[in-house]
Amino acid sequence: MSAPAEQLRRPMLLPLDEQRLDEVLEIEQSTYQHPWSREIFLDCMRFGYSCWTLGWQQVDVYGIISISRVVQEAHIFNLCVRRELQRRGLGRTMLNHLLRLATARGAATAILEVRPSNTAACALYHSMHFRKVGVRPRYYRDNAGREDALMLMRDLRHKAL
Ligand SMILES: CC(C)(COP(=O)(O)OP(=O)(O)OC[C@H]1O[C@@H](n2cnc3c(N)ncnc32)[C@H](O)[C@@H]1OP(=O)(O)O)[C@@H](O)C(=O)NCCC(=O)NCCS
Repeated sequence: MSAPAEQLRRPMLLPLDEQRLDEVLEIEQSTYQHPWSREIFLDCMRFGYSCWTLGWQQVDVYGIISISRVVQEAHIFNLCVRRELQRRGLGRTMLNHLLRLATARGAATAILEVRPSNTAACALYHSMHFRKVGVRPRYYRDNAGREDALMLMRDLRHKAL
């Protein structure tokens, strides 16, 4: 990984392209028990979702959001930080970027799903003013079978980003 001096510089925010997809897949596979396949990432890019990476010399964080002007809603599909760089503010930085983008493109709300067992992600979203609006039963695969998803929503009109 990057040297500490390297990290004193700001990480670069870039749109995800196929060149950086291998790095994203490496993070995805080393982070999630049920990682997305290359095909899913390619579909996100083909469907025109906003796919972003953040990092110094390599990809360290990525985030994927779809933003619909028609229903004024943004849906965050993925947010992931390289394991050894977690808890340094990078997840929050990427989430802020995605939410600013959504606001600039006319979204009034942002929604996402999260595993209730994912305490780090739940704490991040809570601290960013996301609130529970529902549950999707048995939404995620897990080792014991299925796990529910919490549906979280944030109003983008009232809180400063
Ligand atoms: C969830 C995730 C994106 C957070 O990113 P991160 O860069 O580690 O988080 P940040 O350093 O930006 O932390 C922001 C806030 O989130 C919360 N948080 C982050 N990690 C936490 C942890 N391990 N335990 C408790 N709270 C945590 C805290 O409120 C933290 O604020 P604080 O440091 O001021 O207390 C990261 O842990 C990750 O990539 N996890 C694996 C993939 C994943 O689960 N993605 C979410 C799918 S819904």
